[in-house]
Amino acid sequence: MFFTKKKYLILGKDGQLGHEFEKTIDPDEYVALGHLDLDITEFYKVREKIKEIEPEIIINCIAYNNVNGAEENAEIANLINGEAISNLARICREFCITLVHFSTDYVFDGKNVKGYSEESQPNPINNYGRSKLLGEEMLIDAMEADYNFEEIPDGKYFIIRTSYLFSKNGHNIVKTFRKFIEDKKELTVIEDQKVCLTYASDLAKQVYWLLETNEYESGIYHITNEGILNWAEFISFLGDILGINDIKITFIKLNDWKVPAIRPLNSVLINTKLPKLRNWKEAVKDFLNDY
Ligand SMILES: NC(=O)c1ccc[n+]([C@@H]2O[C@H](COP(=O)([O-])OP(=O)(O)OC[C@H]3O[C@@H](n4cnc5c(N)ncnc54)[C@H](OP(=O)(O)O)[C@@H]3O)[C@@H](O)[C@H]2O)c1
Repeated sequence: MFFTKKKYLILGKDGQLGHEFEKTIDPDEYVALGHLDLDITEFYKVREKIKEIEPEIIINCIAYNNVNGAEENAEIANLINGEAISNLARICREFCITLVHFSTDYVFDGKNVKGYSEESQPNPINNYGRSKLLGEEMLIDAMEADYNFEEIPDGKYFIIRTSYLFSKNGHNIVKTFRKFIEDKKELTVIEDQKVCLTYASDLAKQVYWLLETNEYESGIYHITNEGILNWAEFISFLGDILGINDIKITFIKLNDWKVPAIRPLNSVLINTKLPKLRNWKEAVKDFLNDY
């Protein structure tokens, strides 16, 4: 395939977030690849493809995102979320490409009721979180390693931690709850977990702005919609908007939710570096209007 030189390369174009970047960035400015175009675990092919495209910036939206699946498939999670990111970062450094990569609130243990800033100490409690932290660490190692060659400068990178993405495209908790409420199905809701939601469209726009302003240093950034919520509050908000408030709900504690991977109880990401996004309630309303 022949590519005209473009500023951006979007990897993972068919996922929730990749799709939003395609909607956010002018088509003249990007090339986007999906899983069928490139498997991120085929390290040599990744280098060849990037060399061929010659982007200035890579936005990597690829991930192994199956939180429960990672408990049994730690190796594949570590390969896609860890080693493949190390490979990608080394290639970016070699060709002087800025790398944007996404991570998660699940790198934290959830024990801090005040939430977690960019400087907080990660301590993942499930394999998915461990694999995403591995990716963060390997990326930073590759970008900042001292190769003792003056001609290889540090690579520029942005690790964006986000949480509970929702969008029209793909599976997410907002779509799931919405369907349950509309179908008037009985719901089991965790009442004690505190989280932040992130509208994928808001995230993509913010990251695009961050890159285009070109004023921010390499590092870790937290981006979510503003406001902390628990799922009980969320269901009630959704029910009000949809005009359906007669759903039978059973409330349980996170500890009593029987799934393979334990989740952090308070995984609130605190953003201390960037302008804030709008509140999650406004974002959810927009999402429902656009549905
Ligand atoms: N979703 C969330 O709630 C959430 C929360 C926090 C952080 N994040 C992070 O945000 C980023 C974007 O998440 P998302 O929700 O947009 O993810 P997503 O919808 O699951 O998309 C991930 C994409 O990666 C592709 N992929 C998986 N393995 C691949 C491989 N070996 N080679 C090439 N492509 C591969 C998938 O293709 P296939 O479908 O064909 O496998 C899919 O298109 C990820 O880094 C994720 O960890 C997400």
